[in-house]
Amino acid sequence: MARITEVRAREVLDSRGQPTVEAEVICSDGIRGRALAPAGASRGSAEAWESRDNEAERFGGRGVRQAVRAIQETVSPALRGMCVTDQAKVDERLVELDGTINKKRLGGNAIVAVSLAVAQAAAHAHRLPLYQSLVLSALDIGYLCRPAEGADYLLPMPMVNMISGGLHAGRHLEVQDFLIIPQHARSFAEAIEIIYTVHRSLGNLLRAQGYEADLVADEGGYGPRLRTNEEAIELILSAVKKSGLREANDVVLALDIAASHFYNEGLYELTTLDRKLDSAEWIEQLLSWVKVYPIVSLEDPLAENDWAGWSELMKKLGNRIQIIGDDLFATNLQRLRRGITQGIANAVLIKPNQAGTLTETFLVMREAQQVGYRRIISARSGDTEETWLADLAVATGAGQIKIGCITRSERLAKYNQLLRLEEELGERARLARPFA
Ligand code: PGA
Ligand code: ZN
Repeated sequence: MARITEVRAREVLDSRGQPTVEAEVICSDGIRGRALAPAGASRGSAEAWESRDNEAERFGGRGVRQAVRAIQETVSPALRGMCVTDQAKVDERLVELDGTINKKRLGGNAIVAVSLAVAQAAAHAHRLPLYQSLVLSALDIGYLCRPAEGADYLLPMPMVNMISGGLHAGRHLEVQDFLIIPQHARSFAEAIEIIYTVHRSLGNLLRAQGYEADLVADEGGYGPRLRTNEEAIELILSAVKKSGLREANDVVLALDIAASHFYNEGLYELTTLDRKLDSAEWIEQLLSWVKVYPIVSLEDPLAENDWAGWSELMKKLGNRIQIIGDDLFATNLQRLRRGITQGIANAVLIKPNQAGTLTETFLVMREAQQVGYRRIISARSGDTEETWLADLAVATGAGQIKIGCITRSERLAKYNQLLRLEEELGERARLARPFA
């Protein structure tokens, strides 16, 4: 079996033009694997630490040379000789080497790049496509990848960003992400066609109303200067209506509110309303949105530390819609376990770079699977040209994916990979339809 001989690293750029870490694992018999670390803007406090050089004279302090050095000087010698197909052992070694709770020593960005590069090299060593090789590593730690019935593989239902606010688009609106879900699509390819139709219709509508519709936000969606969150929702619904889709309810809505980012001293600061709401008032607002609009999923509806608010909202909505913890859980097993005990959500966003390693990501998914929490594989607002996220979603049968809009090639790299995998798998795969 292929053994690791060296891990190289370099500083490259992500989709926002910010430095990020690329790791390259080199094995005996010429096998290699390479991966880049994605980076978030609206980060949860429990995420793996992102190492930045803080040297003002380089990349405004955002350089990642320390993380690169950590890989070259610490990780590379420590992984030498290890079997590249033993993802769990390699990840364990990485966690050990770091030795801190939040991966502050080596940097989460260094660790995740190495962990994913190892996965890529393992796929080459197995002579398998990445999604099949990932199934083996997930099974190793007891995560069951196969969907219960019907097919060998589950393609993920996409939730797709149409309009951005919050930290991803100059903070005009509080809600960070207004998304659509083509709930009745029969295939991934059909899902993409529906998304295209609505996206285009929305662009025409925005232009007709004098809004900016030619520039894109961090995740590729529109970032018009709207006055209220409701306006964004209404525009999307009008765009769906005008798009000529046969059934109006073919498309439903999801919001990523990322509420931590406008939560201050116990209050939700709504600049669009010029008001500060306490948790109960904010929950009332959310309930009224869910009542009026076809919203099937809310992500981070409350701040990551407002656990009382979360459990209140869960009591009111938990049996009707999907309530996702992103900043809340930060793909962190301890946080997820605490959340499960307290019953504060019913779904978890899965971002490998929040966890740090692939194995820790699988462990979080396993935990979620065991208690029936839904799992949504997610890109970051600062992402890369790589496609592994699509393979991860198919390998784990997660059932849902969130990549951003259908513009910007760091997003399309993943959408296009899912189209390829759908074609390759043919009858062996079906599209998950968790909302239909
Ligand atoms: P981030 O945003 O990558 O900036 O954290 C994505 C999200 O909040 O889901
Ligand atoms: Zn989020």
